[in-house]
Amino acid sequence: MQKVFINIGNLAQVRASESNILRGTLMADVPSIDNAWLKTKDGIIEDYGPMTELQEDSAYETIDLNGQMVTPTFVDSHTHLVFAADRDEEFVMKIKGMGYQEIAEAGGGILNSARRLQETPFNELLAGAKRRLEAAISTGTGAIEIKSGYGLTMEAEIKMLQVIAQLKQDFDIPIKSTFLGAHAFPTSDHDKYMDTLLQEMLPEIYSQKLADYIDCFCEKGYFNTDQMCHLLEAGEKYELKPKVHVNQFNAIGGVEKAIEFGAISVDHLEVLPDEEISLLKDSDTIPVGLPGCSFFLNIPFTPARKIIENGLPLVLASDFNPGSAPSFNMSTINSLAAIKMKLLPEEAFNATTHNAAYALELADEVGSITKGKRANFIVGKPGKNLNSISYNFGVDWIESVYINAK
Ligand code: NIG
Ligand code: FE
Repeated sequence: MQKVFINIGNLAQVRASESNILRGTLMADVPSIDNAWLKTKDGIIEDYGPMTELQEDSAYETIDLNGQMVTPTFVDSHTHLVFAADRDEEFVMKIKGMGYQEIAEAGGGILNSARRLQETPFNELLAGAKRRLEAAISTGTGAIEIKSGYGLTMEAEIKMLQVIAQLKQDFDIPIKSTFLGAHAFPTSDHDKYMDTLLQEMLPEIYSQKLADYIDCFCEKGYFNTDQMCHLLEAGEKYELKPKVHVNQFNAIGGVEKAIEFGAISVDHLEVLPDEEISLLKDSDTIPVGLPGCSFFLNIPFTPARKIIENGLPLVLASDFNPGSAPSFNMSTINSLAAIKMKLLPEEAFNATTHNAAYALELADEVGSITKGKRANFIVGKPGKNLNSISYNFGVDWIESVYINAK
């Protein structure tokens, strides 16, 4: 159960346990040790240091990494990993020129995913989600958030959340679950669906302890700010902190309201007026960009440079879902951040590891090479360094992924 990894060419993202979320210029630094060792015990990082200071101990199984890089695993703080089927036919419609809203109106979009999920039995949904989660872990994800929101009926939302609960049991990485019943209106009677969300779904989810957070798609044609406020208010009653979808296409005031409700994070922010950057500066709410969605939908990228230059912290996540971001690959997110958002490789890496752990309240468990955190780490292929993660877009730089030192 005790292991020592030796001859690590570069041990990246080494931080003391009392470090905080990184803001502004601090995001450009990833502290590391060259030619290092790393000891783990019972799946936890026990100690590390330079090879010149390694004490031999026969109680440890030795693994020689021959000069390869070690980094912590990625933290993916925003996904919709549970769904019934891909929406590749919509992808083709999009190539032929149809827009996101147009596709939604033609029977595609979130309601398409909801219809299919409602018809899919629990076991089938679980099997698909497991396959995707295994694949995500093999690309370096070592902690993840998963949302509901493709159910949109009491029965189907509970089914989705129960799939996530089962994933929590079956996987040994930290998983956070978010209730996103307010993803789209399944009926033209919006008041009626609001009642279902508030009076039926939330109390049941609370009594079964099925969610850690509450989310809402605050957007023109989806949920307005008043509706979001009603939900977040109810969320408070049921001890669910907000993490919300805001400003994907339009700024309709969701950022301000989310901050008022003490949201952990505001996610998307492709449209981000200066006034809202100022509001974020006076808050603890974390801005989260989703560059995979911007890339796939061909919409503006979240102004990540501007966020950092205003001294704010930044987190980046995959938004993995069948409609707007069908990739869970966090290295691709790093590449898009560097190429399209002009982030330094270090900034992109901090936004997807150390900082991302704060967006899931998991900073004491994952996100860095820190004594006492989980030994969830990636071993790079020979010759790869931190730049490679964003530089080698679409190329697998990962040799192996360790979860709890296994
Ligand atoms: O985060 N914007 C809202 N929800 C998803 C898209 C969901 C879908 O199209 O199925 C997102 O991008
Ligand atoms: Fe999303």
